[in-house]
Amino acid sequence: MNSITPPDKRVEFTFDGKKVIAISGQTLAGALLEQGVRTLRKTRIKGIPRGVFCGIGICFDCLVVIDGLPNQRACLTEVRDGLTVETQDGLGSLP
Ligand code: FES
Repeated sequence: MNSITPPDKRVEFTFDGKKVIAISGQTLAGALLEQGVRTLRKTRIKGIPRGVFCGIGICFDCLVVIDGLPNQRACLTEVRDGLTVETQDGLGSLP
């Protein structure tokens, strides 16, 4: 988000406990890339970091945990006020 973004277009959520301010209409992937976040999940066996690859919902490399629900694609999820987003470790687990 840049400084000329009107306040009414700003959306605030957290990623791994840190506050992120984005623009209404952005995807989580776009907002996090803008913040310099490259790792969104770690693979199940070796813990290898993965992030946005295709950006169109095909590769599933951008899986994150959103409000406690694992396996949510960041590239297909629009930012909303109050979302709690976390890096996914392996397959994730349900609450
Ligand atoms: S980046 Fe490929 S599914 Fe999201």
